[in-house]
Formats: sequence, structure tokens, C-alpha cells
Amino acid sequence: MVPLALLPLLLACSLLAAASPTSDSPSRHHEGHLVGLSPPPAQAQTESRQPRILILGAGVAGIIAARTLSSQGFTNYLLVEAQPEIGGRLKSGQIGGHTVEFGANWIQGLDATTVNPILRLAVKHGLQSVNNDIYGSITTYDDNGLADYSDAIDAADDAFYSIVAGAGAQLDERGPDLSVKVLLAHGKLPPSPLSSPTTKDQDSPIISQWDFEYAQTPSQSSWLATAWNNNLTYNLFGEDNLLSVDQRGFKYFIQAEAATFLQPDQIVYNATVSSVDWSNSSATHDTSSSGSSIASANGMPAASADDMSDASPVTVTLANGTTLAADYVICTFSLGVMQNDDVDWVPRLPDWKREAVAAFTMTTYTKVFVQFAGDERFWFDTEMALYASPTRGRYPIWQSLDVPADHEPQFLPGSRTLFATIVGDNALDISSLSGASEVDVQEDLTEILQDMFPNTTLPDFDILYHDWAADPLFRGSYSNFPPSWDPDLHQNLRSSVGQGRLRWAGEAGSAAWFGFLHGAYADGEAVALELIDCIQRGGVCEDNNVPRPQGPLAPARP
Ligand SMILES: Cc1cc2nc3c(=O)[nH]c(=O)nc-3n(C[C@H](O)[C@H](O)[C@H](O)COP(=O)(O)OP(=O)(O)OC[C@H]3O[C@@H](n4cnc5c(N)ncnc54)[C@H](O)[C@@H]3O)c2cc1C
Ligand SMILES: *[C@@H]1O[C@H](CO)[C@@H](O)[C@H](O)[C@H]1NC(C)=O
Ligand SMILES: *[C@@H]1O[C@H](CO)[C@@H](O)[C@H](O)[C@H]1NC(C)=O
Ligand SMILES: *[C@@H]1O[C@H](CO)[C@@H](O)[C@H](O)[C@H]1NC(C)=O
Ligand SMILES: *[C@@H]1O[C@H](CO)[C@@H](O)[C@H](O)[C@H]1NC(C)=O
Ligand SMILES: *[C@@H]1O[C@H](CO)[C@@H](O)[C@H](O)[C@H]1NC(C)=O
Repeated sequence: MVPLALLPLLLACSLLAAASPTSDSPSRHHEGHLVGLSPPPAQAQTESRQPRILILGAGVAGIIAARTLSSQGFTNYLLVEAQPEIGGRLKSGQIGGHTVEFGANWIQGLDATTVNPILRLAVKHGLQSVNNDIYGSITTYDDNGLADYSDAIDAADDAFYSIVAGAGAQLDERGPDLSVKVLLAHGKLPPSPLSSPTTKDQDSPIISQWDFEYAQTPSQSSWLATAWNNNLTYNLFGEDNLLSVDQRGFKYFIQAEAATFLQPDQIVYNATVSSVDWSNSSATHDTSSSGSSIASANGMPAASADDMSDASPVTVTLANGTTLAADYVICTFSLGVMQNDDVDWVPRLPDWKREAVAAFTMTTYTKVFVQFAGDERFWFDTEMALYASPTRGRYPIWQSLDVPADHEPQFLPGSRTLFATIVGDNALDISSLSGASEVDVQEDLTEILQDMFPNTTLPDFDILYHDWAADPLFRGSYSNFPPSWDPDLHQNLRSSVGQGRLRWAGEAGSAAWFGFLHGAYADGEAVALELIDCIQRGGVCEDNNVPRPQGPLAPARP
């Protein structure tokens, strides 16, 4: 059992490793001991055969895991990606001839001694991004047009910072995690608009401060994890939010990074994994003799009939029937994909893993882009706008990609494009999973824009959004930690199965930075280093799961 109060210590260790990507002897926690990684054997490349590693998914975690393996001399890996390109949740679309971002859009932090590793890559590859004043440049509306509720914005800011500070004190006292609503109700923090009931004009700033980042309401979120996730991002990297406006797409930075080390035969596209068989993974295995990289007729390394006589620890089957054999697998599929059983695990994953996967939340965060016809400029001149709806969370946050010519900075000048962000249960309402269609979304937006701009004859507009919740490759947007979450369950979410053969990496694995690109980066790197450590210690490793978290005891019968 890792007490919550010790987590910041553990986090600090992983932060140090992640914050210095050039350091070549990172230390990692392993089964309670600090294990120093020895440098790779100099002849790793020339030894009889390197272990075969499959990395499932080519998002940020998969690419950084691959880069980490390459840099330590382990090059016998294959990235297996369902989409036709690298990027994962860095996903762009086109509206009115402009590239816009359906998924990740911001890089957090700018002025700090600890540089966000995503910013480092963006700068390295010349990504075009601009500083977006999310919390400073705001126009406020409600269902009667313009409405001034700047006091409520200030109150929500204050409430957020007292929650974050209160979490620091709670960690020092080794107190439990709670939901924010509960702790406010118990007077642990000063009264604030975060305690119910709230008016629509109070809700809107809270949504901007909280739901916009965590994609759920304060009562659905962990108090402590929210607070350190915020601090470890904004206090460590800096307060700025850089918005990618790069017309090659935000994904460009990770594609360009991949191009620096990835060989064409180290990745397959359009390859959807349908099952992962790890039934042979616990057999003691001599990795030097398991032939698993025999090239098949079509050039794909595949398990041939000969191959099967010498069973490999893990076998991955693609939707088209091709099988791929591996000594080790790193799976980077989203928490949502894991929760939906999109992949068939043979045998079924252990109960401790299934429980851990179920214990965390995959949220939905959807951006709806709106592009206006005509040439009249009628929308707000600020970068952001809030809309306070009588129904909490109905299209609450608006952003302009087309600010006046004299505004600094410019985003997509002349694009006549705004986007509304809708999160959590409200975002599910506009998903096809709830039966909503594009026509419904268009009608919603007509109504809301007419509320915001009551004296304007709205021009025609096109809309564009990605239905994250319904996408079988994601099943939502990113993870959030629920109130009173259990650190043992998070350890089990990260733990390998099959004696270190089958591993998981991705944003949800980062306790410090869940939800963020830099969380995916840090966890991809950490899991690759853990795998290298395992291989160097003989290749068969204990899984570091908590055997079974102790559930509550039923009360004695009264
Ligand atoms: C709408 C939205 C807004 C966001 N905004 C920001 C932001 O501004 N800043 C920020 O830092 N973060 C943001 N994030 C979070 C960030 O995008 C993620 O944390 C990060 O991209 C996750 O990377 P990953 O490698 O862990 O997972 P993924 O990017 O999901 O990579 C997993 C890969 O696996 C592939 N895959 C899935 N199933 C299969 C299968 N069966 N077979 C083969 N391949 C499969 C997927 O196609 C994908 O490429 C946002 C996310 C979303 C969705
Ligand atoms: C993947 O499929 C798309 C069409 O869906 C195709 O355009 C592309 O060439 C394919 N890529 C590869 C590498 O097969
Ligand atoms: C976050 O940082 C603030 C300001 O430095 C501090 O007061 C607070 O205790 C920190 N909270 C956590 C959870 O680390
Ligand atoms: C199956 O998909 C893989 C990956 O795209 C491809 O390389 C292979 O040729 C396909 N096999 C068949 C039988 O279509
Ligand atoms: C597991 O090993 C057995 C015995 O070697 C073999 O027959 C079987 O095909 C292997 N299964 C997989 C999925 O590799
Ligand atoms: C809309 O017009 C009415 C009547 O002319 C006016 O009272 C109101 O202030 C206008 N609203 C806005 C948002 O401009």
C-alpha cells in the first residue's frame, strides 16, 4: 500500500527522470528499491538476437517509448498503429481551408527552469505556436447576451487556489483524498462559489477553471490528484499555455521527432490490434532462441509455422488475421480502449488489472468548430468567451481563432472560426453514443449563438467536431482521477502481467501528469526504461502489482 502522503516523493523521483531526458543513468523505483540502470551492453546490437518488442499504438507514449529503446540500443521493435499516421490524440482536421486541432492543442508552461519536454520537442522541430491568454482575455455572456460576471471569475480563481493550497496541507497531514464538494461542505475550506447551490453566472467561471482542464465537475474529481497535477504542470513548467496553430497539425512535432530515429520497417500503419495472447508469457523462456522476426512474404515480420514450434511469450493478432510474435509488448491504448474490451486478451487479464482499469475515469472533451460565412465581424474581440447557460455546462467555453487585426497574438487570421468546448456529461450528450447527430449539434449552436448575440442576424455556418467518446481507438478524451482514488489501484493500472512480458504506458499511467501530453511522454519513457531494466536483469521479471487491493470489510450483522 502506497500511502497518498508518500506519492509526492515517488512523483518527485519520476519527475527528475522525466525532466532530464539527456541524463543517461536514471533511477527508478522497483519493488521498493531504487535500482540504478546500468548503461546498455556495448555489444547490444551485435549480440545473437535482441528481444523482439511490439509497441502497440503510435501516439506520444508509443513514440517516446520507441525512442528510449533505440537510444539504449534496443532496435528490434515494431510500432503497431491502427491509424494511417503517427500522433494518436494529436489529431487535426480541416475547416474553411485551415488546419484545426480536434485533440490536444496546448503546451503548458514556458518560462521556467524545468522545461516541459513537449515544449522542448516543439522548439526543436519549429512548431508554430502562440501564447493564448486563456484566463485573461475573456468576454462573458449568458442567455441574454453580454453579462458581466467578472466578480464570479475572481471568486472561482480564489476558490481554485485555496483548494490547491488546502491539498498541500492535507498531504502534509497525510489526510485522505476527498471530493471537492464534500470537503467544502465540511468547512475544510472557506466558503466559495464551489459549494452548491450556484447560479448560472457562478457556474460558468468554475467550469472554465476546473471542468475545462479536468473534463469533469469538481464533485467528480480527486481533490489531491487535481491539485498536484495542476502544481506539477503550472508551478514546475510555468503558467503559460501555448496554442499550436501549425498548419501541418500539432502532431507534426512528434512525427518530426519520430523521423529522427524510426526506420520504415519499425512501424506498421492501418494495423488494428484485435487480440493479444499472453498465455505463453509465464513459461521460462530463453529469449535468445525464440525466432520471432522471420519475415513473411509480404515483408511483415510474422509468426510462421516454424516459429510456432518455438512458442513466443506474446502473440498479437491484427484485424486482418496477421499474427505478430514478441518477447515483450508495450501497450499504449487509452484507458477508454482498455475499459471497453476492444481488444481480446487471452487469457483474460487478471482481476487486479481489470479492477484497476475500471477504477479510473475516461472523460470526454469535445471541441466544436464553427466557421461563419459572409464578412461581417460580430463575435467577441477577446481570445476567449464564457457562456453561462441555465443548464450547467452547455457549450460553456468559446474561443476565437480570428481576433481583430490589432490583437496580439494572431491565431488563424481571416478564418472566421470560433470553437466551443464542451466536456464531461455534457459532451456525452452530443455524442452519437447518446443518439445525437450533427444536425442536433448545429441546432444547439444556432440557439446558443443567438443567445450570445441577440441583435445579430446569424450568418450561415459550418461545424466540425470529432466524436471522441464514440471513436473505438480512443473511447473518450483523457483520464481523470476520481475522488478518494486508491494509489494501489493506480500501481496496478501501470503494472505488467506475465512476468514483465506485457506492459502498459500512456497518459493515464502518469500519476503526476495524467491527462497531459507530457504525462504520455513521461510514462512512455518510464515504461521503456523499466522494460530495459528487466531485460538487463535476465528478461523475466516479477510484476509489481499489489496482489489484490484490500476491499472494504462488510460490517458485522447487527
Ligand atoms: C480533445 C482533447 C484535448 C486535449 N488537450 C490537451 C492539451 O491541450 N494539452 C495536453 O498536454 N494534452 C491534451 N490532451 C491529452 C493528450 O492528447 C493525451 O494525453 C496524449 O495525446 C495521450 O497520448 P498516449 O500516447 O498516451 O495515447 P494515444 O495518443 O491515444 O495513443 C494511443 C494510440 O493507439 C492507437 N490504437 C488504439 N487502439 C488500437 C488498436 N486496437 N490497434 C492499433 N492501434 C490502436 C491509437 O490510434 C493511438 O494512436 C487532449 C486530449 C484530447 C482528446
Ligand atoms: C492506410 O490506409 C489509407 C486509406 O485508409 C491509405 O491511404 C494509406 O495509403 C494506407 N497506408 C499504408 C501504409 O498502408
Ligand atoms: C501547490 O502549490 C502551492 C503554491 O506553491 C502550495 O501552497 C500547495 O501546497 C501546493 N499543493 C500541492 C497539492 O502540492
Ligand atoms: C494485414 O495488415 C498488415 C498491416 O497493415 C499488412 O502489413 C499485411 O499485409 C496485412 N495482411 C493481409 C493478409 O492483408
Ligand atoms: C503456446 O505454446 C504452446 C506450446 O509451445 C504452443 O503450442 C502454442 O501455439 C503457443 N501459443 C501461442 C499463442 O503462441
Ligand atoms: C439589443 O438591442 C436592444 C434593443 O435595441 C438593446 O436594448 C440591447 O442592449 C441590445 N443588446 C445587445 C447585446 O447589444
